[in-house]
Amino acid sequence: MKELTIVHTIQELQELLNGHRRQGLTVGYVPTMGFLHEGHLSLVEQARQHNDLVVMSIFVNPAQFGPGEDFEAYPRDAQRDAGLAAEAGVDILFMPSAEEMYPQEGGIRILPGAQAAELCGASRPGHFDGVLKVVLKLFNIVDPDRSYFGMKDAQQLAIIETFVRDFNLRTAIVRVPTVREQDGLAKSSRNVHLTELERMEAPAIQRALQKGALLVAEGAKVKDIEQQVADAIVKNSSGSIDYVSLLAYPALTRDIDNTNEVIIACAVKFSKTRLIDNIIIPLKG
Ligand code: PAF
Repeated sequence: MKELTIVHTIQELQELLNGHRRQGLTVGYVPTMGFLHEGHLSLVEQARQHNDLVVMSIFVNPAQFGPGEDFEAYPRDAQRDAGLAAEAGVDILFMPSAEEMYPQEGGIRILPGAQAAELCGASRPGHFDGVLKVVLKLFNIVDPDRSYFGMKDAQQLAIIETFVRDFNLRTAIVRVPTVREQDGLAKSSRNVHLTELERMEAPAIQRALQKGALLVAEGAKVKDIEQQVADAIVKNSSGSIDYVSLLAYPALTRDIDNTNEVIIACAVKFSKTRLIDNIIIPLKG
C-alpha cells in the first residue's frame, strides 16, 4: 500500500503539490463528499491509471444543500474514508473544514445555464450554484491535470463539462461509469439511509430505467416513456417520484431530435433519503 498524506489546509496542500509539480508529476483529482464506496474507488482507479499522483478531497459542501435538505444527516466517517483512500492508492487526501473553504461570506455567485433548468436543478433550487462554487475553488486549489466524475450524477457532470469549456479551466474532465450493486442499485453514500425493505425495493429504479431504454428503442413517445418508468418505480417500491425525465444528453434539453444520446434520469424519495439514477441511451442514425 502506498503512503497516504492527509492535509486539512489549502496552504499545506499547495506546498505539497508545488513540490511534486517541480518534479513534473501529473495530478489526477477525485472530488468527493466522503462516505466512500466502490463508485468513488473506481474514480481513484481511473485516476491512478492516467496520472502520476492522485489527490482526493472530502468535503461535505454546505453551499450545495438547500434549507431542509440532508446536510446534517449526510453520512460521514473520516477514519473509515482515510483507510479506504489509502487502500485504493490515493496519495494525498484533502479534508478541509468549512471555515477553511469558506472563511467569509462571499458575495459572488456562479449561476449555471440551461443545463440546470431540469432534473435536480429544478427540484433543488441553488444546488448547482453551490456545486460550481466549490468545484471552482477546488480546481483552483488543486490545479489538477485531470478530474474524475461519476456518471450517476450525470447532470452535475454535464454542467461541469460546460463550466470547464466556457471558462477555459485547465483540468480535463473524465467521465466514469456508474458502479452498481449486484442487484443493479447504483452505489451511493445515501443508500445507507434506506430501511431494510427500501433497500430490497430500490433496484426497481434501475429496472424501470432499463424498461425506459427499451421503449426509446421501440420509438415510444417521450411522455409515455416517462410515465411508464415512473409507474414501474411506484408499483415496485414504496418510493415516491420526484422526477422522471427524458432529455437530450449532455444538453439536457427537451429537443431530442438533434442529439446523439438521450438520458432518462430520475429522483425517488424514500422515507429518509432521496436517490437519483439514470440511463444514457445512444440514438441510432
Ligand atoms: O459529487 C459530489 O460528491 C459533489 O457534488 C462534489 C462534486 C464533490 C462537489 O461538492
